[in-house]
Amino acid sequence: MKYSKPIHWGIVGTGMVANHFANGLRLLPGSQLLAISSRQESTAKIFASQHDVPRTFVGHQSLASDPDIDVVYIGTPHPTHKQIALDCIEAGKAILIEKPFALNEQEAQIIVNKAREKGVFCMEAMWMRFIPLIQRVKNIVTEDALGENLLLNATLGFRSPFSSENRFFNLKLGGGALLDAGVYPINLAFWLLGKPNTIKSYLKIGQTGVDELGAFIFGYQNGSLAVLSTGNRIFSFNQASIQGEKGRLQIYEPIYSPTRMKIDIFQDSKSSSKVRQIASQLEWLRKMSRRVRTLTSRLQNSDIYMPITGNGYQYEAEEVEHCIRNGQLESNIMPLNETLDVLSVMDEIRKQWDFFYPVEKQSKVGG
Ligand SMILES: NC(=O)c1ccc[n+]([C@@H]2O[C@H](COP(=O)([O-])OP(=O)(O)OC[C@H]3O[C@@H](n4cnc5c(N)ncnc54)[C@H](OP(=O)(O)O)[C@@H]3O)[C@@H](O)[C@H]2O)c1
Repeated sequence: MKYSKPIHWGIVGTGMVANHFANGLRLLPGSQLLAISSRQESTAKIFASQHDVPRTFVGHQSLASDPDIDVVYIGTPHPTHKQIALDCIEAGKAILIEKPFALNEQEAQIIVNKAREKGVFCMEAMWMRFIPLIQRVKNIVTEDALGENLLLNATLGFRSPFSSENRFFNLKLGGGALLDAGVYPINLAFWLLGKPNTIKSYLKIGQTGVDELGAFIFGYQNGSLAVLSTGNRIFSFNQASIQGEKGRLQIYEPIYSPTRMKIDIFQDSKSSSKVRQIASQLEWLRKMSRRVRTLTSRLQNSDIYMPITGNGYQYEAEEVEHCIRNGQLESNIMPLNETLDVLSVMDEIRKQWDFFYPVEKQSKVGG
């Protein structure tokens, strides 16, 4: 599609995810990466030359004051999200904030209130939700193809290099597996099953005071269960499975941007015509997947393959572009109320283990 005017993006932060996001953005013809800000001029200049960014700024405030920027992507450590977001909203910019949206629900609520008050677009950059396969899985679950009383298992962890200084293990930088990696399986549970009614958890706190391993069981009023886990020192499978009376589905790694799943629909003489229809649609998808099998040698006969283009970060940016062009202030796919609910659940888990970040120590989480 041709647009009379591109959406102009600015990025705050020049770290790992900001680089991925800039690469993803290149795939959107309606978007242009106009500016980058860093705490240091030299770093901004290096990023700008690597990604062909015309304008560089020192500090997010100067970037936010550029009148040509429509939307700011915030790719900095989580404890910095709140202030950067508030400054960008104050300057009238739409914002896309990396996950976790903030350190806790209280901070997130302040950002959301301000965005709503100012009437600017705001969304959490939960890129997993916009990946085609994850969208498809949502349809499958919503169409009741797997049945009710579902059991979701999901795990995501990283084997992060240990250092008390890096953001994965540093309390002051919002370190810990729950907020960094656990947010994905938790978000997936929200995406597929909604907000849980009960939460049981286990957190193992490491030597730097952040959580390094965690397991969570969510109970739902309709009888479903989610069994989730995370870690920042584990060589994780990063997979998920959903099992129900009518069928079972497995999402292969990595769950944040998967391209392969396996699904079996249980059919017998009592299966409804709806179940048969879904099973035949999936069989068609499976056949199509086999045609492109040469693309991936790991594909099994029963697998469904749904490719992503590029690195997959453009899908969330495309949603932002779509919302801005349509005058929408929130995404229907990643609504702000759900971002708040995810953070409230992560607050609850940390509360159960008396785990608080330094800035929360006086007030305690959410209190
Ligand atoms: N969606 C995803 O796939 C994904 C993947 C990884 C991380 N994330 C999220 O993205 C955020 C950044 O993660 P990352 O892995 O990209 O981190 P990173 O590599 O450490 O980069 C963070 C960048 O933020 C800037 N920054 C601003 N204030 C900072 C501070 N006080 N301390 C350190 N850096 C600061 C720095 O850029 P300057 O030096 O230029 O200012 C730094 O390079 C986190 O919230 C994380 O959870 C998302």
